[in-house]
Amino acid sequence: KEYTPPSTDLITLTRHVLNDGFNLARSSAASGDLTILLASLQTTCKFIENNVRKASLINLIGQAGNQNVQGEDQKKLDVLSNEIMINALRASGKVAVLVSEEDEEAIIVGEKQEGATFETERGKYCVVFDPLDGSSNIDAGVNIGTIFGIYLVRDGSKGTIEDVLRPGREMVAAGYCMYGSSANLVLTTGNGVNGYTLDNGIGEFILTHPNITLPPRGKIYSINEGNSAYYHEPVLNYLESIKYPKGDRKPYSARYIGSMVADVHRTLLYGGIFGYPEDKKSKSGKLRLLYEAFPMAFLTEQAGGVATTGRGRILDVQPKQIHERCPVFLGSKEDVEEL
Ligand code: AHG
Ligand code: MN
Ligand code: MN
Ligand code: MN
Repeated sequence: KEYTPPSTDLITLTRHVLNDGFNLARSSAASGDLTILLASLQTTCKFIENNVRKASLINLIGQAGNQNVQGEDQKKLDVLSNEIMINALRASGKVAVLVSEEDEEAIIVGEKQEGATFETERGKYCVVFDPLDGSSNIDAGVNIGTIFGIYLVRDGSKGTIEDVLRPGREMVAAGYCMYGSSANLVLTTGNGVNGYTLDNGIGEFILTHPNITLPPRGKIYSINEGNSAYYHEPVLNYLESIKYPKGDRKPYSARYIGSMVADVHRTLLYGGIFGYPEDKKSKSGKLRLLYEAFPMAFLTEQAGGVATTGRGRILDVQPKQIHERCPVFLGSKEDVEEL
């Protein structure tokens, strides 16, 4: 057998963002700044990853003792990850507005924050994020992640809440990092989707999944069927149609992790459909529009898939509030169109 040595020409995330195949035209006002911002986000993902891996060993398991604005009990890792992100993003000097799942109000950077050690410069970008996605899976060691979306402030704006109350199609970049058997960062800047795996030995994300593309049809459905009692007819009919298919089609397999990051990651790689519908109990579903639905819809479309609320394109929804919810169905084109 011939020996194939490991590559000595690694494409790190930073190298890729700087040099290869990245179309930063949508954010041409400050493409160098976007590179710096993405470097800062990479660091937060490594920092969070490091804490996730050690959580059981350093007393990071369990409740923090407070609730967030959506009435969820915050876990210690939710709070820690949020602080890591806010500190790093403020320090980058590239952001004007931050919206986090864990903070009721948007943070306008450049205003003196209580407890802050130093004042930071205000940049041109707005970052909306879910610092730790999949909270209910933390204590079981199941995959969790971080989700982010990036807007450029509107022309002439210094950075206000209006800069983030915009449809997802105006985002200049979006991504997530999944903390699973490896840490995988998946990113789009509007020119396709690339996936990078953290090499812990050298502390770099390495390009391992270039140009992620969804197959046009999958074999997997991913939805919390325990909510069936509340689902509306069309969703129930669709589920029936994939479990008891007509003709010579085979029934779909069920996979539901309960961390959006992990369920979407699998959907991007294997295809199929992921959904969190609106139902009789949750009128707008559960997932949050700005920092869950938009970034994942952007990635899905960039990977050749479709993302819909069930009534229309997710990326066209006009947000009214930073923490509003939105029904989500995303995945392979034919599967979502069939739904
Ligand atoms: P978060 O942990 O950031 O609050 O998000 C939880 C979300 C999402 O990760 C997942 O898709 C969904 O909750 C699962 O909800 P159910 O437990 O209702 O299925
Ligand atoms: Mn939460
Ligand atoms: Mn989440
Ligand atoms: Mn979260």
